[in-house]
Amino acid sequence: MLSSVNGSVRQFLSFNQRPQRLLHLTPRSQFQEMGSHFDFLTKKPYSPPSWASRLSPIPSHYFSLGHFPTPIHKWNLPNLPNNTEVWLKRDDLSGMQLSGNKVRKLEFLLADAVAQGADCIITIGGIQSNHCRATAVAARYLNLDSYLILRTSKVLVDQDPGLIGNLLVERLVGAHVELISKEEYAKIGSVALTNDLKEKLISEGRRPYVIPVGGSNSLGTWGYIEAIREIEQQLQTGPAEAKFDDIVVACGSGGTIAGLSFGSWMSSLKAKVHAFSVCDDPDYFYDFVQGLLDGLEAGVASRDIVNIQNAKGLGYAINTSEELKFVKDIAAATGVVLDPVYSGKAAYGLLKDMTENPEKWEGRKVLFIHTGGLLGLYEKVEQMGSLVGNWHRMDVHESVPRKDGIGKMF
Ligand SMILES: Cc1ncc(COP(=O)(O)O)c(C=O)c1O
Repeated sequence: MLSSVNGSVRQFLSFNQRPQRLLHLTPRSQFQEMGSHFDFLTKKPYSPPSWASRLSPIPSHYFSLGHFPTPIHKWNLPNLPNNTEVWLKRDDLSGMQLSGNKVRKLEFLLADAVAQGADCIITIGGIQSNHCRATAVAARYLNLDSYLILRTSKVLVDQDPGLIGNLLVERLVGAHVELISKEEYAKIGSVALTNDLKEKLISEGRRPYVIPVGGSNSLGTWGYIEAIREIEQQLQTGPAEAKFDDIVVACGSGGTIAGLSFGSWMSSLKAKVHAFSVCDDPDYFYDFVQGLLDGLEAGVASRDIVNIQNAKGLGYAINTSEELKFVKDIAAATGVVLDPVYSGKAAYGLLKDMTENPEKWEGRKVLFIHTGGLLGLYEKVEQMGSLVGNWHRMDVHESVPRKDGIGKMF
């Protein structure tokens, strides 16, 4: 038994150790048309949409890591302004353990890591970082080790971080978790922290590749440039009424809105992009996004192509009970479960704005991008306990016969 298990592990590893051998020469769009079922985890040559072809640098390859295209459907939210429609792009369905918006960035970032001959990935984020979890899974798929620097509170930094939410997946796939207190993180900064770990790993003979917070650098920006091409293609074959005036999305580290707003501006979409920031102030993000766009020689000003509003509330990853009740009410009304840290706050901010300024949204068709993050809800179970109900001990009618030994399980 043991030897057959080892055999299959060996087979799996040798399959993964040779990603280059899986290289296909078919461009992404043709691949989608062919409907190939074998392209997952393969490395493919990349060619950009025509409207992005003057960007520089253009990535040469990407790894197919997500299940794309993700669906778009109408989202029947209650109490919308007159004639306002909200549609949902389900990037939360881009995968299972490897899901959400980060997958799109990782397709490009990990292709670069493999091209550079890396044997491990370093990245950094909050203790429930979806990005770190997605990176750990994607890295493992490609036979790369992962080192995650996770920010936590001073009182928890010396303790086992447990297995809640994203941590469960990260630790199952064997990520190396390095805890840092919020105070140390604030004093040292994410760049110096990742560099420090990089030096240490190099001195041990490893070949690390560093991915910045949230996968947000100019290379990662291609993930959401591609998402715009995907939406354009979906609209060509979708229902005639699905032509969007606005795109709404959460902003946490800036890469998603950089790609979306550049793409929407340059492509045929021309939808106005509204970002709801969940951590830093809009001014910080206008500057940060500008840096990402400049890194691609985009030649556009962030302030012209995206509108950023503050939806931070009490602070990053901290929720009011009103926000959590909103997540619960939206799930109960529409079946769509939002995460509490990103899309939950963005949708809350959007509906608040629609209530306060209905004239701004009346008659508009809005595409909300659900960026995933479901596992983050597990950290909120205590806070959410009083909001859910609907349980009681089953009342079995007394006339139903009871006999020993029947119906043991099935
Ligand atoms: C679930 C989820 N949604 C949205 C975001 C924000 O995306 P970005 O970091 O590209 O701004 C993140 C990460 O920060 C995320 O994990």
